[in-house]
Amino acid sequence: MEKSYVFYQGEIVEEKDVNISFRCKAFNYGLGCFEGIRAYWDEESEQLYLFRLKEHYERLLQSCKALWINLSYTAEELCQFTLELLRKNNFKTTVYIRPVAFKGSNALFPTLYDDDNRMLIYCQPLHKLSEKEELRVAVSSWRRISDNMIPARTKPTGGYLNSALASLEVLQNGYDEAILLTNEGYVCEGPGENIFIFKNNQLITPPPSDNILEGITRKTIMELAGKELGIEVVERSITRTELYSAQEAFFSGTAMEVTSIVEIDNRKIGDGKPGEVCKKVKELFFGLTTGKNPKYSSYCTAVY
Ligand SMILES: Cc1ncc(COP(=O)(O)O)c(C=O)c1O
Repeated sequence: MEKSYVFYQGEIVEEKDVNISFRCKAFNYGLGCFEGIRAYWDEESEQLYLFRLKEHYERLLQSCKALWINLSYTAEELCQFTLELLRKNNFKTTVYIRPVAFKGSNALFPTLYDDDNRMLIYCQPLHKLSEKEELRVAVSSWRRISDNMIPARTKPTGGYLNSALASLEVLQNGYDEAILLTNEGYVCEGPGENIFIFKNNQLITPPPSDNILEGITRKTIMELAGKELGIEVVERSITRTELYSAQEAFFSGTAMEVTSIVEIDNRKIGDGKPGEVCKKVKELFFGLTTGKNPKYSSYCTAVY
């Protein structure tokens, strides 16, 4: 088996040499935050491209600030470590990169007020998150954590218990993915992805004030829909029943990419097939992830 390398505490080391105690606060209390980044392999040019790399690390550093995890690295340094790590692993396929910043102390109580701040980056091949091109989804009875409970915009390690409970519920009920509502009952997002609906010629997505993670894929799609397709993009609260009358709906995220939603709570969305806007957005999105669209080539960082 090929060796697997990770970045840990300032160095690239073999994965098997990393030793993190089960006593550590990150494991016991979820005191950490993370990112999810993709690098797309382009067979034609035999090149691997990281997508919007610096923005992911800027978001991670913002998360760290909010959670009092004091890293000594800049976003530029973290980008550099990631490039070195991918080269060391010599990936020749599409890869998912997971940086995790966490409290490594073994002290018993869940306080963030300590200075054992650690940084780990690991990666693995990942093609499609879901085998399915179109999803049947349901609204979960679990409400999304709100900014004054666990700040969702920090990608908090512990906060993903909320996502996992929502996914569990809908998967057990035979659906492919969940939609979480805010505590006020507005549409928020999926367990690990943002949501869009298309209705009356507008592409609508919930605003940050509805406790969403401000997704980097979401931002890219808003830009593509507006600039390339001339569609009006609106950030506003969405009510549950508006989902049912949408002409189209889709998810966006680094892992989920752009995936069509064809059914919500057993109601067909539009004609129950992936919509035209979603198809166009998807095509534009995949047209730029491997540096082939000169207009957006700054979004891609070549690894080799
Ligand atoms: C809860 C949640 N919402 C949305 C997203 C989508 O964000 P991005 O497009 O930056 O991956 C993610 C994934 O990171 C997520 O975990």
